[in-house]
Amino acid sequence: MTELIVRRLLIDLDQPVERHWCGGDAFLTAWFNALSMSFPIGEQFFIDSVRAGFKALPPDRQEPLRDEVQGFVGQEATHRRIHALFNAQIEKHGLRNHWEPRARRRLARMDGADVRHGVAITAANEHFTALFAEWLLSHPELLDGCDPRLKTLWLWHSAEEAEHKSTAFDIYQALGGSHAWRVRWMRRVTMFFLGDALRQTVSNLRADGTLWRWSTWRSAARHLLGRDGLLRTSYAPWKRYFRPDFHPSQQHSDLSERWLTANAQVFVRVGAGA
Ligand SMILES: [Fe+2]
Ligand SMILES: [Fe+2]
Repeated sequence: MTELIVRRLLIDLDQPVERHWCGGDAFLTAWFNALSMSFPIGEQFFIDSVRAGFKALPPDRQEPLRDEVQGFVGQEATHRRIHALFNAQIEKHGLRNHWEPRARRRLARMDGADVRHGVAITAANEHFTALFAEWLLSHPELLDGCDPRLKTLWLWHSAEEAEHKSTAFDIYQALGGSHAWRVRWMRRVTMFFLGDALRQTVSNLRADGTLWRWSTWRSAARHLLGRDGLLRTSYAPWKRYFRPDFHPSQQHSDLSERWLTANAQVFVRVGAGA
């Protein structure tokens, strides 16, 4: 069991955010903005799915997972609240969130489905966020020129994603979820996630008037496909999810712990659960 602490981040998101808040880089800004747009609806779905999965467990299987589930819910609830504040700021730049309504329509089709489907979708997404978190925590210099509040926001979120990366997966296993459905959902989630992230990034760049700038494409190529790029470095760990003996804890890293220890002044502990 993992002890999950819920933290309140001490940053003020009532103050405006610059249009190119990520060190003046239009692509990185649009990409992070796109991801943030998916969080309020996505993280609420993860909370609902993990709660439903937990409730469906027999009492003796619930007990060892109770505190971890409470911590998971508390962390994701905090993330979705703070990203909603951030999203309200970037909408002032004329950006429109197309990802959320599309995700809402898709998720509506899940009503009444076996709870294990929602938990499998959550576990797949959590693997994605864990890969992204590991990438960002290993390249914090990407955010060096950024608004310091936002650098803190993204690294804190990454650190907590790494902390709770096993929760949904463990619930899925405890529910007796099959390997076949786990990997089937990973394939679908990958398609939807990459498609949605790309479409929203393009939409953000178009609204920003920077879609057809050479510097935008150069940054995209470097940060996604370059030697240390997100897609290139994440491919091998993404593929490991398909192994029958995969478990998220196999991707051990102490970057999250190190960041949380070194940056303890930017948050306060609010206890587990929400
Ligand atoms: Fe999160
Ligand atoms: Fe998460």
